[in-house]
Amino acid sequence: MYDYDIEVKNVDVYYGDVCALEKASLKIRNKSFLGIIGPNGGGKSTLLKVILHLKKPRSGEVKIKEGLTLGYVPQFALFDRSFPISVEDVVLMGKLDHKLAPFRKYNPGDIKKAEEILARIGIEDLRKRQIGELSGGQLQKVLIARALVTDPDVLLLDEPSSSLDAATKDEMFEFLKELNKEKTIIVVTHDMEIIFNYIDSIACVNKSIHYHDEDKAIRVENIEDVFGCPINVLLQTGTLNKRVIDGRYGND
Ligand SMILES: Nc1ncnc2c1ncn2[C@@H]1O[C@H](COP(=O)(O)OP(=O)(O)O)[C@@H](O)[C@H]1O
Ligand SMILES: [Mg+2]
Repeated sequence: MYDYDIEVKNVDVYYGDVCALEKASLKIRNKSFLGIIGPNGGGKSTLLKVILHLKKPRSGEVKIKEGLTLGYVPQFALFDRSFPISVEDVVLMGKLDHKLAPFRKYNPGDIKKAEEILARIGIEDLRKRQIGELSGGQLQKVLIARALVTDPDVLLLDEPSSSLDAATKDEMFEFLKELNKEKTIIVVTHDMEIIFNYIDSIACVNKSIHYHDEDKAIRVENIEDVFGCPINVLLQTGTLNKRVIDGRYGND
């Protein structure tokens, strides 16, 4: 018997009349390194939001194992970099409890924890920098540090590598692999190199979920048959593709 951290059962999610997920089901094993792939608009970010209880499903249920805590690194492009705030403050924001007053003071323990995380990620020297002065890779690390400051059991990352160069990407995924010894990692990605080098199970989200956890047996040339997603969608790194926008796959 496997030990599951998260179970998504028959979930339907709508934004107004737009159906983002339909009868989506997925079980996520403890300490797995799950890759979520699929076309743009397929519902990958929505799936993470449903798991995080940031978006309520119209029907179905999401079960998180009792006592587990979740950390979230949102999609990079959505983060406002012009906001005048330091690296340390961004990381400390991860400590803020929504139930507490907005201007709560951090305690010395929180600041020590933030410093530890920044050191572990190798960016302690950036502590006092404004986020507007960081490179894409540095900012991505800061957002990961923020998600880790509460020491979550499960870390969810939405397209963390899309703005990174190859070296920074490898460095980040080596770090995630290290974290995976003690945490479950869920990562939305289009990056085949990451899919084949780091993840141990894979789910393709295209309104519903095609799920596999024996990815090592899947060959690249079979991936379209297995996941119902065309290979060009999987290989693409965020470039808009007409076939994807139209929602047409195959037959041409
Ligand atoms: N806040 C929102 N309001 C309305 N529609 C949304 C919103 N967020 C996502 N959608 C729609 O839901 C569908 C799934 O989106 P999303 O989960 O962001 O997909 P992905 O992350 O796979 O690109 C798309 O059709 C998208 O346009
Ligand atoms: Mg998305």
